[in-house]
Amino acid sequence: MKILGIETSCDETAAAVVENGTKILANIVASSEKLHAKTGGIIPETAAREQLRTIIPVIDEALKEAKLLAKDLDAIAVTAGPGLFGSLIIGVETTKSLAFACNTPLVPINHLIGHIYANWLDNPAPPTFPNLTLIVSGGHSELVLSTAHGQYQWLGGTRDDAAGEAFDKTARVLGLTFPGGPSIQKAASRVKKLSNFLPRPLSGSDDFDFSFSGLKTAVVNLASNKQFSDSEINQMAAEIQEAIVDSLLTKTLKAALKYQVKELLLGGGVAANIRLVAKAKEKFAGKVHAPKPKLCVDNGAMVAAAAFFNYKPVPWEKVTADSGLFF
Ligand code: KG4
Ligand code: ZN
Repeated sequence: MKILGIETSCDETAAAVVENGTKILANIVASSEKLHAKTGGIIPETAAREQLRTIIPVIDEALKEAKLLAKDLDAIAVTAGPGLFGSLIIGVETTKSLAFACNTPLVPINHLIGHIYANWLDNPAPPTFPNLTLIVSGGHSELVLSTAHGQYQWLGGTRDDAAGEAFDKTARVLGLTFPGGPSIQKAASRVKKLSNFLPRPLSGSDDFDFSFSGLKTAVVNLASNKQFSDSEINQMAAEIQEAIVDSLLTKTLKAALKYQVKELLLGGGVAANIRLVAKAKEKFAGKVHAPKPKLCVDNGAMVAAAAFFNYKPVPWEKVTADSGLFF
C-alpha cells in the first residue's frame, strides 16, 4: 500500500511516499528555517505564506521521486492538527482537493501520533507493544503509552514551555542561532566537564509532567548584564542540554517502570539530540528506538506511516484542520 503523507503543521512543507508504513519511496521537506533564523523564531504568517508557495512543488517532487502519479496512490494522509492553524489549513485543503480530484481515500493524522510512527520507518526491527514514547518537539513534550496500534494513553506533558522551546529560547539568550536545539548541541559538544548547576524543575513531582520555564528563567538571570565568553557560552549550552535531558528522562524512566514497558520510543525534533539518545540508552534497561535526525523533525513520511498503521479514511468533505486536536 503506497500512501502520500503531507505535513504542514509548523514551519515545514513536507510530502513523502511510504510503502506499507515502513519503506520510504520519497521524502521531501522544504523548511522556512532560514527565513525564521533572521527573526529568531517562527512567525506563523511567514510560515503559512511560504507553505502556500511550496506545497504543490513539494508534492510534485515527492511523486516524481517515488515514480508515481497521484492517481496511483492508495491513500493520502495529512496532518490535521495540532499545529499552527494557518499552516495546517494549507496542507489539509490541498490534500482534500487532491483526494477529491483523484478519488483517493484521505486519512487525517494527529501530528503527535505521526512523530511516534517515525520509529517504524526504515527500521529493520520496528517497535513492539506495549511501548512508551517521549515526544519532544518545538511545541510538545509528551509521554504516551501505547498498547497496540490505535491504542494510546497520554501520561503527562509539559506544564509550560516544550523541550524544543526551552532549547530555542535559551539559545537565543546565549546569542546562538535558530533553531536552538542543534546550536546548543554543537556548542555543548565542545565541553568536557559538567557542573550541573541548572535546575531540573518538577523532577521530584508525583506525576509524569515536565516544566521548563524555571530553567529558562535561571538562564535569563545568569545572562543578564553579563557578556559571556565563547567558552562560557559552550559551558552554558552543555548545562542547558543536560538539564533538559535529565528532566525528560527522569519522568520517562519513572513511567517506563510504572507501566512495565520494555521499549522506549523517541520522537519529535528534540529526539535528534545526540545526548538525549545516548543518555536514554545508558539509563533505560530495555530497547530504545530513535529515528534518524531527518525523521525526528517534521516530515511527511511519519504521517504516511501513521496512516498505514491507523488506517481510518474520512470523506474529504468532513476533514478539517484543527489546531487543538489531541487524542
Ligand atoms: O518536531 P519539530 O521539527 O517541529 C515541531 O513539531 O515543533 O521540532 C523542532 C524542534 C525545535 O525546537 C528544535 O530546536 C528542536 O526540535 N531540535 C533539537 C535538535 N534538532 C532539532 N533539539 C535538540 N537537539 C537537536 N539536535
Ligand atoms: Zn513536530
